[in-house]
Amino acid sequence: MDPNSSGISQRLAEAGQSHLLQFWDVLSPDEKAELTLDLQGMDFKEINGFFKSAMKMSSNSKDEKMDARMEPVPRDVLGSVTRDRDSLREWEAAGLLCISQNKVAALLLAGGQGTRLGVSYPKGMYDVGLPSHKTLFQIQAERILKLQELAEKKHKTKCSIPWYIMTSGRTMESTKEFFSHHNYFGLDQKNVVFFQQGMLPAMDYNGKIILENKGKLSMAPDGNGGLYRALGGQGILEDMQQRGIECIHVYCVDNILVKVADPSFIGFCVQKRAYCGAKVVEKTNPTEAVGVVCKVDGHYQVVEYSEITLATAEKRSSDGRLMFNAGNVANHFFSFSFLKDIVEKYEPKLQHHVAQKKIPYVNEKGQMIKPDKPNGIKMEKFVFDIFQFANKFVVYEVLREDEFSPLKNADSQDGKDTPTTARHALMSLHHRWVLNAGGHFIDENGRRVPAIPRDDEAGSVTLAVNRNLKDGTDLPIKCEISPLVSYGGEGLEDLVRGKEFHPTLMIDESGVHELVKNGV
Ligand code: UD1
Repeated sequence: MDPNSSGISQRLAEAGQSHLLQFWDVLSPDEKAELTLDLQGMDFKEINGFFKSAMKMSSNSKDEKMDARMEPVPRDVLGSVTRDRDSLREWEAAGLLCISQNKVAALLLAGGQGTRLGVSYPKGMYDVGLPSHKTLFQIQAERILKLQELAEKKHKTKCSIPWYIMTSGRTMESTKEFFSHHNYFGLDQKNVVFFQQGMLPAMDYNGKIILENKGKLSMAPDGNGGLYRALGGQGILEDMQQRGIECIHVYCVDNILVKVADPSFIGFCVQKRAYCGAKVVEKTNPTEAVGVVCKVDGHYQVVEYSEITLATAEKRSSDGRLMFNAGNVANHFFSFSFLKDIVEKYEPKLQHHVAQKKIPYVNEKGQMIKPDKPNGIKMEKFVFDIFQFANKFVVYEVLREDEFSPLKNADSQDGKDTPTTARHALMSLHHRWVLNAGGHFIDENGRRVPAIPRDDEAGSVTLAVNRNLKDGTDLPIKCEISPLVSYGGEGLEDLVRGKEFHPTLMIDESGVHELVKNGV
């Protein structure tokens, strides 16, 4: 189709984006058709508006002294799995009751591109190398199945936890195919609902949309805060309403320890009558790549790791702990009514954050350039930017070693948040579950492995379990428990109490297996 007759040329000219057609004459008919389709669906005036306000916000936040406006989370909104042990059972019971009444949904943010991990497929399809070789998607699906079963058993009624999965243009097809290929991991297909977030073009510093090649715009997902627009635009809110959902647990795809639809977190938020809640772990290293939950100008907010100054990140309270230590693990609670308000009223008020990036582009001569320093921006909304609108906001603190081990980077020596650290974190947790349920492990010399708690560099307690003789690093005992057997360490006593196991230990629906001993 000719861009002049379709009105595209004129719209581009009005928006100062005519350069997008500079290679039109040399494109093939297919390329022309694709470019036309992309351009037709875009609102350039809106995009230019996003650019202006995002750049303004970004330069304001550089000028303003954020430090003086930040306050830590006040004690009275904080619940903690360690300090409030007595209330835990009550919170869990409240959460399980809501689940049994079909009021709880899980919502997975899976539209990211996994750039740091360096894979071309969705991160949820990643196998971190567990004995079972389960992927992140499978682990999460099985936790949902188990939780449904726990709620059903306790309340003697059938129930389901719908699972809403947000993908992006880049991850939708492969994610759907993967679920279908694996038969939805045993979940009822009608309770797994996929939807797609929006995409935005990358722009140079003058607000010109960047061409990735002669006939293609450089596009990226609009950030995990693109959630709210997508919820409204794709009928997801209505779907939730029809199902009678009252509580939504929103979480990120990459945390191998995530307690999907965690009944204790949900019960805590429900009992506090919160509209919105955030799960946190104690941040102990000032430069760790986690956002911190805090108040800015009296409103709750996450100050992202890329946006906090080192001076503020390093501030300590009188007890020696980091002053801003509520590390965001990207697990959020929303009441349905709050989510509805966000989608219907507040979403347009959210500003895009600016990420400066090295964006490959085609120059005026038609040459492909891979820049070695940032040459433009991507614009993203953040999921937590709506905390400021919640009249009642709570924070729930959990233990890092029990609940947080994200997969961000590819394996490398001393790497953080890698497949190896994720695998070790899960096996170490499951090892502790076995010990807590009264089981023991035997090492290669036939001796019981001592369970010695120790502090690791991040300050959290793990178990010194097994020494790798080659390089002297600690290896966890190889132990994996299927989520179909235990959601959070419960129900293992009959299987392990008083027994001794040789790693690799696998506990799944078919029983207890020692893989190495049996030569597997
Ligand atoms: C995120 C949090 C950070 C937190 C950290 C914990 C945000 C904005 N930041 O940071 O505060 O401390 O996790 O691990 O939430 N995603 C989309 N669409 C997008 C972009 C991302 O769905 O357009 C999803 C990803 O698939 C992933 C999640 O959002 O599940 C987080 O994205 P990622 O880029 O990994 O966030 P971090 O920078 O690690």
